[in-house]
Amino acid sequence: MTQLSASILAADFARLEEDCRRVLAAGADMLHFDVMDGHFVPNISFGVPVLKSLRAALPGAFYDVHLMISRPLQYVEAFAEAGAGIITFHLESEDDPVEVIDAIHAAGCKAGLSIKPGTPAGAVLPYLSRLELVLVMSVEPGFGGQKFMPPALDKLAFLREACAGRGLAPLLEVDGGVDAVTGPQCARAGADLLVAGSYLFGAKDAAAAARALKQA
Ligand code: DX5
Ligand code: ZN
Repeated sequence: MTQLSASILAADFARLEEDCRRVLAAGADMLHFDVMDGHFVPNISFGVPVLKSLRAALPGAFYDVHLMISRPLQYVEAFAEAGAGIITFHLESEDDPVEVIDAIHAAGCKAGLSIKPGTPAGAVLPYLSRLELVLVMSVEPGFGGQKFMPPALDKLAFLREACAGRGLAPLLEVDGGVDAVTGPQCARAGADLLVAGSYLFGAKDAAAAARALKQA
């Protein structure tokens, strides 16, 4: 069964804890924590203190941290200390990928590498054996509620095959515009982990939405 990571970017920040409890009870497997610095992407979201508070309120949840920031290296330790389980950063960021991956592991977290829609999937291959997760962006990072970009499906299929051919099994995650139609397409293409923001938080029946995504 596909796993579901709920992107809290689509939550009501005035009721963050309550909204997170609601999607976890509805069937989300983890919380996707989108960090934006206003530099790597043209938007600013939230950072370490918010993760720290959320973790204190919901210590049992697993935190899937997605860093859309230009300099991930200098923040790895702080996010790890604040409660991250997985830390994913962008190949297009300014730091050396191997250094960032090593820092994430040294901080006791799983390491994920993400690519934007314009970056070919082959660009992650040199790092594949060091990673626990690869995140394929199916929208331009920066905002929730955008339309799914279908070329992400080919990237997932390519990575699925590349992993199998190398005897590797990092989780393949997809993020952006995932709903009851595109979620199943991603799962068929090889995704293990679906990120859903607006579709899940905006659903009248979050449990039904989570089921539709996870049975993908
Ligand atoms: C976009 C973020 C996504 C976003 C997904 O930059 O990385 O996680 O919240 O939102 P939806 O599911 O609404 O496309
Ligand atoms: Zn994200």
